[in-house]
Amino acid sequence: MTFIKNLFKVLFEKIRGSNHDFFLSHKYDFIKSYYGNTCLDIGAGTGRFSQFLADQGHKVTLVDVVDKRKVDLDLIHFNGKHLPVDDNSFDTSLFMFVLHHTNTQIELLKEAKRVTKQYIIVGEDIVESRFDKALGNIHLNTSPWARGNDSFKNEEQWEKVFDDLELTIIERIRIPRNVYPIYPVNRVIFVLKKDS
Ligand SMILES: C[S@@+](CC[C@H](N)C(=O)[O-])C[C@H]1O[C@@H](n2cnc3c(N)ncnc32)[C@H](O)[C@@H]1O
Repeated sequence: MTFIKNLFKVLFEKIRGSNHDFFLSHKYDFIKSYYGNTCLDIGAGTGRFSQFLADQGHKVTLVDVVDKRKVDLDLIHFNGKHLPVDDNSFDTSLFMFVLHHTNTQIELLKEAKRVTKQYIIVGEDIVESRFDKALGNIHLNTSPWARGNDSFKNEEQWEKVFDDLELTIIERIRIPRNVYPIYPVNRVIFVLKKDS
């Protein structure tokens, strides 16, 4: 029932041409205490979420490999590997549904760890079955953004990546697949803290 209701909601917003963020409460309200004063939005895309953070009073820096901003906030263009910012210069760094678009996940997470004082927030599409994998491939093949190769992971695989990088999961927000029925995979937002 929720699936059908949400399907109509998403389709209605798409037809209206609206830029509605269906994951906003998961991305922000449920974990707002982890967004510090200064935030680095890595893979900011159009800047929709960066603008939302700025509207909540956070000082946000956008960084991306392309410039597709639809907001009036400054963006740092970078090579997708090395973040051109100083060590420990941001309270919080975020990758909101970015890492499956890259082939440099480990480098980027290491860089985020270097430039972040406190928390790294990672939102990811979780691929657990062949059906999810097929959906993920359709998503990447139809997405306007860069595509990663073999870049989706399940929760256990992400846990291993974070553990290897000495990043501790301190919060985990699950977004069920019925929230966004036109690309129905489960999603997770991990809040990570630097161990050292
Ligand atoms: C699905 S969009 C997400 C945009 C935004 N974070 C959001 O939640 O609305 C994926 C973003 O990842 C960016 N991206 C792709 N490869 C990247 C890389 N190597 N480093 C940083 N960002 C990258 C894309 O340019 C795009 O902005």
